[in-house]
Amino acid sequence: MADLLTLDDLDLASLSGTRVFVRVDFNVPISDDHRVMDATRLEEALPTIRELAGAGAIVILASHLGRPKGKRDALYSLRPVAAELDRLLGKGVRFAGDCVGEEAEAVIREMGPGEVVLLENLRFHAAEEKNEPAFAEQLAALAEAYAGDAFGAAHRAHASVVGVPERLPRKAAGRLMAREVEALGRLLGEPERPFAALLGGAKIEGKIDTLENLLPRLDLLLLGGGMANTFLAALGFDLGASLFEPDRLDVARDILARARARGTEVLLPRDLVVTDDLENPQRTITVAPERVPAGMKAVDVGAETRKAFAAAVGRARTLFWNGPLGVFEKPPFDAGTREMAQALAACPGFSVIGGGETVAAVKQAGVADKIGHVSTGGGASLEFLAGRTLPGVAVLEKGR
Ligand code: 3PG
Ligand code: MG
Repeated sequence: MADLLTLDDLDLASLSGTRVFVRVDFNVPISDDHRVMDATRLEEALPTIRELAGAGAIVILASHLGRPKGKRDALYSLRPVAAELDRLLGKGVRFAGDCVGEEAEAVIREMGPGEVVLLENLRFHAAEEKNEPAFAEQLAALAEAYAGDAFGAAHRAHASVVGVPERLPRKAAGRLMAREVEALGRLLGEPERPFAALLGGAKIEGKIDTLENLLPRLDLLLLGGGMANTFLAALGFDLGASLFEPDRLDVARDILARARARGTEVLLPRDLVVTDDLENPQRTITVAPERVPAGMKAVDVGAETRKAFAAAVGRARTLFWNGPLGVFEKPPFDAGTREMAQALAACPGFSVIGGGETVAAVKQAGVADKIGHVSTGGGASLEFLAGRTLPGVAVLEKGR
C-alpha cells in the first residue's frame, strides 16, 4: 500500500495564519429536536482539528450531512453539528451558512490563527457530488492547504474529497484518515491468525466484494443478521416469512463451497429468534433454522448461536466485524448484537469494527475502548476491504 502524506508533511510549524480546508465526515444522526445523537465522528476528528488549530492554522471544516440532493434543506443543516463540536472542542466554533460564495468568504476573512469554522452542508450544491470543476475551484479558493480526514466519505469521488486536493498541492491525510488506512490495511496485510470476520446486516448485497476479497485470508467466517438468512436458504432451510435475497442464493452457495474448499470454518446461526410481527410482536420464540413456523420471521440470533459465536470470537487473533446480527434498531431484537459486542471485549487479538450500528452497539455495551480500531467508515471500510482504491485516499498518497 502506498504511503499517505500526513500532517507532518504539511510542516505544522509553518502553518500559522494559513487557511487549511479540512474535509471531515460529520454525517451524523440528528434528532428531531436538532441534536447530534452520536458524536463519534466528531470526536474522532478532534485530533486533526486540535493539531491544526494548535499550529495556528485557520481551520475550515467542510462536510456533507445526509443526502439533500443538491437542495438547501433545513433538515440537513450542519448548524447543530457546529454547536456540538463547539462543546467538544471547548472553544468557539464559527458557522458559515454556505460552503462557498460571499457567506463563506466573509466568515473566513474575519478569522485569526487557531480559529475554527464549520461550513454548511456541501451537498446543498449538486456540484459537490458531480465533482464539477467550477465548484471544486470555488472551494479550493477558500484555502491554501488541504487536509483529508473524511475516511467515511473517501469512497465518494466528490468535489471536496478529490477535486479540492487535486487543486491544492499542499495537502495531507488527517490523523483519522491515516489511522483508518493503517488499521484496515493491517487486515489486508499479514493479519495474525486465526483471522475471523463477523458479518451481519440486512443484505449480502453491498458486501459481496468484501466477502470475496476477505475469504481467501480468513480462518473463520461468522454470518448473522438478514444476510445469514440467504445462506441458510441456500442450504435449503425454509425460513418462513424471514427476509432473504432469493437472487443471491447462488452467490451464497458459491461462497460456502469455496470456504469449504480452502478449509475456512463458516458459522451460521444454529437458532433464530423469530416473531410473528416486527412492528407489534405478539409471539416471539427461539427455534432451530429447520423449525421456523410459517408466517414467522427471523429477527435475531438465538442463545446457542450467541454462545458459539462468542467462543469463535474468543479464539480469533484478528477480527473484523460489520453489521448487526438482528433487527438492532428494534429492542429486544438487539440482544444478539449487544452480546456479540460484549464478546468482542474478550477477543484477545486485534479487532476492527465498522458501520454505524456496529459502532453504536459496541459503544452501548461500553466496550469501545477494548476494540483495536473503531472505523468511522461504513461503506468506505467495506470498499477498502474489498480491495478497492478509494479516491479520497489515493489523492493523498505520496508522489501524486
Ligand atoms: C456514510 O455515512 O456512509 C458516509 O458519510 C457517506 O455517506 P453517503 O453514503 O451518503 O455518501
Ligand atoms: Mg452510506
